[in-house]
Amino acid sequence: MSKKIIILNGSPRIKGNTSALVNEFARGAEEIGCEVKIFQLDKMNIHGCKGCFGGGKNFDSPCVQKDDMDKIYPVYREADLVVLATPIYYWNFSGQLRTVFDRLFAVAECDPNYRNPKKESVLLMAAEGYGFDDALQYYQNLMKHLGWTDLGHILAGGVMKVGDIKDHKELNQAYELGKKVGGNSL
Ligand SMILES: Cc1cc2nc3c(=O)[nH]c(=O)nc-3n(C[C@H](O)[C@H](O)[C@H](O)COP(=O)(O)O)c2cc1C
Repeated sequence: MSKKIIILNGSPRIKGNTSALVNEFARGAEEIGCEVKIFQLDKMNIHGCKGCFGGGKNFDSPCVQKDDMDKIYPVYREADLVVLATPIYYWNFSGQLRTVFDRLFAVAECDPNYRNPKKESVLLMAAEGYGFDDALQYYQNLMKHLGWTDLGHILAGGVMKVGDIKDHKELNQAYELGKKVGGNSL
């Protein structure tokens, strides 16, 4: 059975290096019949978590803040696989992606024990250098905390300007990963 995939693209550069990885991953997954929905987080009206612990009362719109997260929540709920895509900003995820993750806490608040829905995950990252260790460790800790199954990551280093990633091997790796992980169900 092919999967439903949500891609959270935390890069503000629509034609940038992270987006190139996203597009190749999506192309691979769609080729084998997956349903893929990409969210360009920087183009959305999404505010930071208020830390009110008052969410989880409305299943369809679980956060107390009403903004573009309401477009993400239903797709997230239905998704089998969540793709986290981001440039490295100061050795970590971009703020755009971090902000969305904080806001997904409202979905866990719908459960009396704050359980998160079970998902599979993939990480796609681009950076000028090769210092991915901190972000990768953070991702692995996050997946462990959420109880999600990590299906792999693509880390494209040595890319700074838009277009630098052209001809890098990681583009093909992202395409192949999309084809591979899109096919196997949990
Ligand atoms: C605010 C900011 C912080 C950055 N921090 C890092 C960093 O810590 N390490 C690194 O290798 N590159 C860093 N970069 C470079 C980006 O990761 C790099 O340009 C990447 O290719 C951007 O991906 P994009 O094209 O998807 O936007 C930073 C860029 C910006 C704008």
